[in-house]
Amino acid sequence: MERFDRYLPMIESEMRNVTRGEDDRLNLFYGMMHYHLGWADEHFHPLDLHAGKRIRPTICMMACEAVGGNPEDALPAAAALELLHNFSLIHDDIEDDSRTRRHRSTVWALWGVPQAINTGDGMYSLAYKALLGLQRRSMPQDLILEAMERFSATCVALTEGQYLDMSFEERMEVTAEEYLHMVERKTAALLSTSAYLGALIGGADRETAALYSLFGKQLGIAFQMEDDILGIWGDEEVTGKPVASDILEKKKTLPVIFGLMKETSNGGSSPLWDMFRQDEITAEQARKAARILEEYGARSYTNTLAAEAHQMAMAALEGTGIENEAQADLRALAEKLLRRES
Ligand code: IPE
Ligand code: IPE
Ligand code: MG
Ligand code: MG
Repeated sequence: MERFDRYLPMIESEMRNVTRGEDDRLNLFYGMMHYHLGWADEHFHPLDLHAGKRIRPTICMMACEAVGGNPEDALPAAAALELLHNFSLIHDDIEDDSRTRRHRSTVWALWGVPQAINTGDGMYSLAYKALLGLQRRSMPQDLILEAMERFSATCVALTEGQYLDMSFEERMEVTAEEYLHMVERKTAALLSTSAYLGALIGGADRETAALYSLFGKQLGIAFQMEDDILGIWGDEEVTGKPVASDILEKKKTLPVIFGLMKETSNGGSSPLWDMFRQDEITAEQARKAARILEEYGARSYTNTLAAEAHQMAMAALEGTGIENEAQADLRALAEKLLRRES
């Protein structure tokens, strides 16, 4: 991500500082976290993989810089956001029965579900420890409290979203409105909080911080819609996840919602409905579903809605009236994410 990489070494080192134990007997416990974060291979040998795009901490630090703050003050929050994100992925892979992420075996696939649950729990708790590092940077107590409150509300929203996402697997008729309600929680809440905390720590006034929050939320909505597209049509070599994986899991992603509705309103044959009503969808059927959805126009529909959310994100940034290099970087990052392939 070239120009967005400048904060990465700081972010990695902040995260490393909170993810180590004091006792050698816990090496494997922290090792599983290090593996997931890309710092170790499955035998726990050191590795420097770029596992994950680190967009949440990057957005947090850029927002802090954009409002005139010292981005390093936002480091504890940045590390906390990325740890929270990764906790949610370790658990999401169990919930979604996903054996592969970022081109590698998932934690549960290597060490079993019980250890993976616990590794995720550990990382969740360490996210709070990371956030409390704000004390080290001499932040006012009321600001730290506000950050903690926002952070925990975000954790709740994320799990509400995951609940809805999973409950949709069992349902056929999910509306686009219900989808948005789910995505606001599962994905957009954390991106919104990433931008918000950066602005808050950087000293932004309430109105400006609220605009960064809105920017992150709309960006998160666009981001999940793109993720839905990659989950059906993404190139396995690039995404690091199996082809059409979301269809195998019967996820009611936006393209699928569109396709199912189209068949309902057409009233003719309904190959998608037939497929999604089965107990299991095979890999071959999933590939067929991807072709059908493409023909129905589900991909361009999703792209259009993602572009609209992206526009709203840009309008929120514009609304702050701030113009500087960090602000331009935020805009460029959002642009890049809209065209991402992994
Ligand atoms: C994946 O997020 C989960 C979603 C919210 C769609 P990312 O695409 O940011 O995951 P990494 O950290 O870069 O792998
Ligand atoms: C990710 O959901 C959102 C989380 C809160 C973890 P997905 O299930 O769509 O993400 P991927 O596609 O597995 O990364
Ligand atoms: Mg999921
Ligand atoms: Mg998943």
